[in-house]
Amino acid sequence: CVTRHYTFSIVQHNVTRLCSTKSIISVNGKFPGPRLVAREGDQVLVKVVNNVTNNVSIHWHGIRQLRSGWADGPAYVTQCPIQSGQSYTYNFTITGQRGTLFWHAHISWLRATLYGPIIILPRKNDSYPFKKPYKEVPIIFGEWWNADPEAVINQALQTGGGPNVSDAYTINGLPGPLYNCSSKDTFRLRVKPGKTYLLRLINAAMNDELFFSIANHTVTIVEADAVYVKPFATSVVVITPGQTTNVLLKTKPHYPNATFLMAASPYFTGQGTFDNSTVAGLIEYEHPSDHSFNKNTTLFKPTLPPLGSTGFVANFTKKLRSLNNPKYTATVPQTVDKRFFFTVGLGSSPCPQNATCQGPNGTKFAASVNNVSFALPATAMLQAHFFKNYSGVYTTDFPANPPNPYNYTGTPPNNTFVSNGTRLVVLPFNTSVELVLQDTSILGAESHPLHLHGFNFFIVGEGFNNYDPTNDPAKFNLVDPVERNTVGVPSGGWVAIRFLADNPGVWFMHCHFDVHTSWGLRMTWIVQDGLLATQKLPPPPSDLPKC
Ligand code: C2O
Repeated sequence: CVTRHYTFSIVQHNVTRLCSTKSIISVNGKFPGPRLVAREGDQVLVKVVNNVTNNVSIHWHGIRQLRSGWADGPAYVTQCPIQSGQSYTYNFTITGQRGTLFWHAHISWLRATLYGPIIILPRKNDSYPFKKPYKEVPIIFGEWWNADPEAVINQALQTGGGPNVSDAYTINGLPGPLYNCSSKDTFRLRVKPGKTYLLRLINAAMNDELFFSIANHTVTIVEADAVYVKPFATSVVVITPGQTTNVLLKTKPHYPNATFLMAASPYFTGQGTFDNSTVAGLIEYEHPSDHSFNKNTTLFKPTLPPLGSTGFVANFTKKLRSLNNPKYTATVPQTVDKRFFFTVGLGSSPCPQNATCQGPNGTKFAASVNNVSFALPATAMLQAHFFKNYSGVYTTDFPANPPNPYNYTGTPPNNTFVSNGTRLVVLPFNTSVELVLQDTSILGAESHPLHLHGFNFFIVGEGFNNYDPTNDPAKFNLVDPVERNTVGVPSGGWVAIRFLADNPGVWFMHCHFDVHTSWGLRMTWIVQDGLLATQKLPPPPSDLPKC
């Protein structure tokens, strides 16, 4: 194992998309940002230098951060933001993970332009549990706004309405030929016939789950959220924001005399207007005689499921199973110390006097977990916790029970108002947790990609309608459930997850739709230190930013 050093200089950078140029916040003047490559077991040091006027923080999404919570990154949760002119070195070791993850800014909406792949290769003397691919290609989905994303979310929060939808989806930062004046801004994957390519798919889009498909090709799913899965073939991949999926693409055995579109389009069940556009890239085969690409060939286009294909999504997620191989698979908790039932969904908050609000019935949009719309404090919770100095920062009374009335998929309550607070759950070290996440239909049923920091969890059950605590647990899969860091709570349904609270610190959990996070669909867990020295969170690094 080695130590890998990176420097991320946060700088403004001019980018032209959809025929207009704007200055974006970038890492090292790259968009999408640079790849972070390491092997399992390596230590990674990333020095982030803030050369812009905004406050910044970076999160290493899906990295477990075992006893390195100071490097996790969500602003006001594990650290104060890095202020203009300052720097902070994130220091973590990659333990028991291999595959694809990604890094992104974790403050306001800066992750709209600040994101890039994390590639974790197997240890030097280890290999993949599948045939070594000929080439590996990161494919990172994003969203592009012609406006400044910070202005988009700030305007939405001020008026209480929904933020403007993005102007395009992107593949590796490029909208592709189906968008206005973007044919030259197209991701092209140039391939040889008869080879296997490992595509590292990352959904870094802000607010949309995606379907992804390649015309006339199927792919084999081999990994999800940096954990190997039982391989299965599919022509369409479902991927929510915060999820990563490795797939093998076997190219045609012979030169096909055609070019193939790869495309992604949104899966969406909520209400309101929606920009139903498609991002596309091209797969171009190398011509056998002159080694050229894309010679006067026919173009094939994939068929993507329609916008609201909830049944398709449920079928797809059911197929994801862990490898159930002790070499790669963590142990599924068979017993539970603590059960939680949390509702996740949209709601609203009152409009201030003399203001006009653009949310539902003249209120402001909000979102909550157990009806608590989580307010970030003005200082970082992890420091407050570590130095036992948390009064005025947070309270440890996160409500264990969901609000009444209870029928989340039936008639919504008359009062849709959320409560506000910075309320946490405290877990003793090594608690085995079962958490049921239930979507509400208070303002329309919608799926929520819930992401937990600091842990992988097992998805032991899921279903539609209201969770039934009497009959549903009997159907849980405790043998080969998929292990992930982000789960799509189905629209009008529920999921049950289990994890072992073996990582001391303060851990964020939130919807990976940034608009829902901004509205308060976020909460925090504290995992206490264990008794042994190896079960305690070490003291903060000396360069940890101050608020
Ligand atoms: Cu990918 Cu808390 O985030």
